Formats: sequence, C-alpha cells, structure tokens
Amino acid sequence: MSNKKELLWQSRFSLPFDRDALLFSSSVHVDKKLYREDIRGSIAHVTMLAEEHIVSAKEADEIIAGLTEIEEELTSGSLLPHWEDEDIHTVIENRLKEKIGAVAGKLHSGRSRNDQVATDTRLYMRRQVEELQSSLNGLLKVLVEKAETYRDTIIFGYTHLQRAQPISAGHYYMAYFNMFLRDRDRLRDLMKRVNISPLGAAAFAGSTLPLNPRRSAELLGFDDLFSNSIDAVSDRDIVIEFISACSIIMMHLSRFSEDLILWSSYEFGYLEISDAFATGSSLMPQKKNADIAELVRGKTGRVYGNLMAMLTIMKGLPLSYNRDMQEDKQPLFDSAETAIGCVTIFAKLLENTTLREEKLAKLTAEDLSLATEIAEYLVRKQVPFRDAHRITGKIVTWSITSGVTLPHIPVETFREFSDTIEADIYDCLKAEVSVKSKKTHGSCSFDSVALQIEEARKQL
Ligand code: ARG
Repeated sequence: MSNKKELLWQSRFSLPFDRDALLFSSSVHVDKKLYREDIRGSIAHVTMLAEEHIVSAKEADEIIAGLTEIEEELTSGSLLPHWEDEDIHTVIENRLKEKIGAVAGKLHSGRSRNDQVATDTRLYMRRQVEELQSSLNGLLKVLVEKAETYRDTIIFGYTHLQRAQPISAGHYYMAYFNMFLRDRDRLRDLMKRVNISPLGAAAFAGSTLPLNPRRSAELLGFDDLFSNSIDAVSDRDIVIEFISACSIIMMHLSRFSEDLILWSSYEFGYLEISDAFATGSSLMPQKKNADIAELVRGKTGRVYGNLMAMLTIMKGLPLSYNRDMQEDKQPLFDSAETAIGCVTIFAKLLENTTLREEKLAKLTAEDLSLATEIAEYLVRKQVPFRDAHRITGKIVTWSITSGVTLPHIPVETFREFSDTIEADIYDCLKAEVSVKSKKTHGSCSFDSVALQIEEARKQL
C-alpha cells in the first residue's frame, strides 16, 4: 500500500513511497524527543536568514510565531507526532505549513535535515552533558560527606576480594570521589567538542545562499562552528565519545554497586541500606535485597551495548551522511538518560547507607589483615623485607592453625619465629595504629584522608 502524505523528497519520484517502507524508516517514535532542540535550531536559522535578507523580517516573524505555537502544542500534547511524517523535523515542518502556509517552506532555505539533525543532536547532548555533570556533582558531595562521617572508622581494604589491610573508611569513599571527579572532568573536556555548531553545512557541501553560520552558532550558544561541511554532517564521533564517557561512569557505579551488594549481605554485614532503599522478596520474608545497586549494575551492560552499537553503526560508512546514522538516537538517548538516572539514584542510595561501625571495629581489631604490620615492624628493625615477609607468613600460618589471633600470640611464640621481635610488637598490632602510622602521600591514614577531603571540597 502506498502512502497518502507527500514526503519532503517525493517530487522526483513517480510512485508514492510504500507504507511499509515508510513505517520501517520512520524515526518519529524516537526523535520526537528532539522537538525543543529542533524548534530552537529553526528559530536561530530563520533569524539568521532574516538578518542576511534571505527571508523578510515579516516572514521570519511569522515562522517564529508558528514555531513557538508548535512547541506549545507538542509540550501540551495537543499535537501528537505521527510516524507518517517520517521524522520530528518533518512533523514540525508539516505542521508549520498547515499553520502559516507556503511561507513555512522558506525556513528551509540553505538547510538540509542533515545539518538540522546534527544541530539538534548537539543541542541535546549539551543539555545532557550539563545534567550529567550536575548529577555527578551531587554524588561527589555525598562521597565527601561519607568520607567525613567515616574518616575515623576502620574497615578492611581488599585486594582479590581478600581482606588485605585495615584502612580508614574515608579513604575508601575518597577513592570513588576521585573516579567520579575524573568522570566529571571528562565531560567538561568533551563539552568543548560537543558545543560546535554544524548548522550551515546544509546537505554536506554548504550553500550558494549568503548564509551566516557564525551568527546561527552564536544564536544557539555554541562556542564555535564547524570548519568542514562534510565533517559537520557526518561526524558522530562526539556521540561515541559521550557514550564512552557514560560507559566509564557506569563502570564506576557498577563496581561501587558490587561493593554495596556484598557489604550489605548477611555474610559481610558491614553496611546497612536504609529500608527506604532496600527491597524484599515476595516469597522469603527474611530477605533484604540491594535491588537499586543491582539495577545500576545491570543497566551498565545496556550502556556498554549502546557504545558497541554506535561504534558498529559508524564503522565502514562512506562519507558523508548515510541513513544508518539515524540509528544514533536510541543509543544516545538511552545512554544519557540511564547515566543521569543511575548517578542520581546512586547518590541517594549512598546517602541512605550506614556502616555498621561496632561490628567493623570488632572484626578489624583481631584480623589477619594486621600481618603486614608485623612485616613492616621487622623492616623497621633492619630485617630485609623479603625475610620479614617470610617470617610473617610463618606466623600467620601458626595463627591460623592454632586459632590464636595475631594480637594474642605470646611474645615467646613470636620470638620463636624471629628473635628480633620484642614486646613492642603489640603496639603495632592494632588496626588503629596500622592506619594512623601510614606515612606516605595519599595513603589510608586518618590525616591523609582529612587532607584529601580538604582538597576535595575545593572541587565541589
Ligand atoms: N531522520 C534523519 C536522521 O535522523 C534526518 C536526516 C535525514 N536526511 C536524509 N538525507 N535522509 O538522520
């Protein structure tokens, strides 16, 4: 069956476009999200056209008034974008024609949907990058607060998911602070490449009309404009860069989620998630699950998928525009919305967690993770580190087999392993001393964490 409505490009053809082919190629259901950006771009374009006397001031006014009404109609829902219009640009163009007649056609002087959609995409990305930055700021604040609250709380630091050494919990939170700070910087940096106007590149080769693309760029708040019209319409590397930044954020969130899931489990029991952010089981009444963190971890997979999709869509496309590129919207929108949603909810989730300090204090006081203290004690007494390590390893084995925890091993037993060990060994067999006595830059000591927090506050 053929299509009733005439499409923008139809005049050259003797047969109307097949309806199934149109349904297949229509992107309205996805790109309708860009209606605000599209109208904004059109207003800037027609303003420039009037300034350059390509259209009259009266025509521009009529077009702008019509576009403004259409924006309201789309916002209120009185105008519902229909798939038959092929894409959101055409929805708006057709509606404008209905409202103001043939003059509507003048809006498209010197502009193709190719530079139009590239402009809309950049405007959309700009808004999302800003929103993602501000949600990251929220998360960074919560992290600093957590680091401050738990600066003097000792937890286990892990390597290979094995208890490694006692650390200040603040140090742990500040590790994530650093990751999300880099994520924010990454967005700040890519914004330089996002905020470039492609408007005025037309289909891909520019225009014979005396356009002023610098002016439309300025009207849209872009920092600069394209320098090559082919690149302007066919570049999607910025979309890939943005989804890649979202993927890295999601990877950080997913690791953090994994810690929260493990730490809130009965087996670890280090952390309590507030009931307001935990879920139960419909069958097992005792369950308290960390579904929010699990969902964040799961959604990470989807964002990675979007990155792969975009890289694959672009691979092998000949210059310049190809319709394949229409497929960029879904991964872009999904990544932006998922990343913003996840960062925002994760900050709230984190705010609603508490460390089980008493339990942690008990666990860290006697643990084998104090073993490094013995080795470093021996090093301070001039034993070469490799020997110190070997001696300590033997002490650890003895502790495990005899069931006597390190701080309770009698000094005579210690001395059987090394006569360098004296009664002062017990001074360092305390988690607090272990943390406190770390001396190196950026270490897990309470003082180092205080310093890190102080520096971090300057970045908020
Ligand atoms: N819907 C299209 C897209 O999102 C708009 C550009 C159409 N251009 C074209 N030459 N068919 O990519």
